[in-house]
Amino acid sequence: MSTNPESQPDDILLTVDGLKASYDESLILRGVDMVVPRNSVVALLGRNGVGKTTLLRSIMGLIPRTEGHIEFAGERIEEMRSDRRARLGLGYVPQGRDIFPNLTVGENLEVSLSIAGKAGKERLDQVYDLFPVIKAMLGRKGGVLSGGQQQQLAIGRALLTNPKLLILDEPTEGIQPSIIDQIEDAIHALKKEGDLSIILVEQYLDFAKAASDTFYILNRGCVVQKGESEALSPEIISEHLTV
Ligand SMILES: Nc1ncnc2c1ncn2[C@@H]1O[C@H](COP(=O)(O)OP(=O)(O)OP(=O)(O)O)[C@@H](O)[C@H]1O
Ligand SMILES: [Mg+2]
Repeated sequence: MSTNPESQPDDILLTVDGLKASYDESLILRGVDMVVPRNSVVALLGRNGVGKTTLLRSIMGLIPRTEGHIEFAGERIEEMRSDRRARLGLGYVPQGRDIFPNLTVGENLEVSLSIAGKAGKERLDQVYDLFPVIKAMLGRKGGVLSGGQQQQLAIGRALLTNPKLLILDEPTEGIQPSIIDQIEDAIHALKKEGDLSIILVEQYLDFAKAASDTFYILNRGCVVQKGESEALSPEIISEHLTV
């Protein structure tokens, strides 16, 4: 591992530079460049199968990188194991609700707290404020919660690890509108507190636009468009995102 703070400005949290990644023989990411400023929300958009989840998994170190660099908070991380990346402050909520269905809500939170220690306990009240349903359902088994409640639990659990960067892969997929609104409110509230950036993969464009500062659109493993989220126009959407 090399540390090279000069190459990353202070206001940048994550830099992805020329990242390539493959599954077996097929190259999925073909040289992705992406920047996540500190205290900002970046929407990662693109049609099904273009490589969004693969990019997130590469950032987390869950699939091997073939080429390129990833720098996080001034440290090069592309050779690091995923557990070290998590400890450095990368929090990941995978696509689909990745909670423990046979543990209670409280036990699901305990798993994160056991990793995060004291800092996580300090964050517990914030998680209860953001998602009151978590507190109301502490004794229930995770598996009996609705899809939206499980998503809130998954996000809450990731927050307990005190991430600097929270990575959310399609948090609104298959969720009812009232819970989508709560997740959007949570993103705004987290941003207001400062010291947290978010990468948000999202198919629901109104949500993505409202919740993010900047956007990247992937197509076939390349960034084909990026900019301020305010500038996400119907033309851009129909060119790159509508099926
Ligand atoms: N474990 C895997 N092994 C082999 N190929 C895979 C694997 N996971 C994904 N792929 C392939 O990699 C490509 C990118 O998949 P990825 O899941 O990153 O897309 P995505 O943009 O997240 O799509 P979606 O919007 O449907 O979630 C697809 O062609 C997919 O079939
Ligand atoms: Mg995906």
